[in-house]
Amino acid sequence: MNKELIEKGYAVVDAPEIDRCSLYDSFDMLPVDNYIQGGFRRRRFSWFSGSPQGLSRLPHKQFYQTEKYEGRPDIFREYDEIDNSVIQHSSFQNIIDCFVSITGINMMNTPVEVHQIRVLCGEGVEGNPSPEGVHRDGCHYLGIFVVRRDGVIGGANSIHLAKDEEAVFETMLEPGQFLFCDDEKVMHNANSIHPADDVKHATRDIFVLTAGEHRR
Ligand SMILES: [Fe+2]
Repeated sequence: MNKELIEKGYAVVDAPEIDRCSLYDSFDMLPVDNYIQGGFRRRRFSWFSGSPQGLSRLPHKQFYQTEKYEGRPDIFREYDEIDNSVIQHSSFQNIIDCFVSITGINMMNTPVEVHQIRVLCGEGVEGNPSPEGVHRDGCHYLGIFVVRRDGVIGGANSIHLAKDEEAVFETMLEPGQFLFCDDEKVMHNANSIHPADDVKHATRDIFVLTAGEHRR
């Protein structure tokens, strides 16, 4: 388990060994997230037990976050499952392996939930990775892994001790970097993205991994 994550409640971890490029194409196939206005987010969701190299996909379920953590009415959200070709890929398993080793969770009794997300922007569409603003996910640990930033400006992540407080930490995650949070200790946010000059459409591709029940 990562010492910084224990002590501060958040940590940035470089994972250059993960071959991100072989996962690029899978983000082009993500369905539109219909639970957000503007059509700028695409998403799949699955959850797993077992081990990073022996992933066991758990039965399909709707994604749910309570009002307590999201600050909006309870909602069950239906997303397509992450594609088998992604799950069987060593790069995906390495992402989960990194999450498990940094957080110290045991996948045999603590499933890992994985969101595969693309946020788009361009031609009048502003992509907002965190429409809810500063929030908790309602889990114990979460990890945000950036696969790719293609023509994007913005999308910095920030860490807060309370919803109405200034950030205690801010970082622009580069592809191949993880931001880990102890969701019980800190809140998180991400600012909006827009395309770089001369770019019509820009994208930010990430995996968000969560594990464990929030105990507060
Ligand atoms: Fe979140």
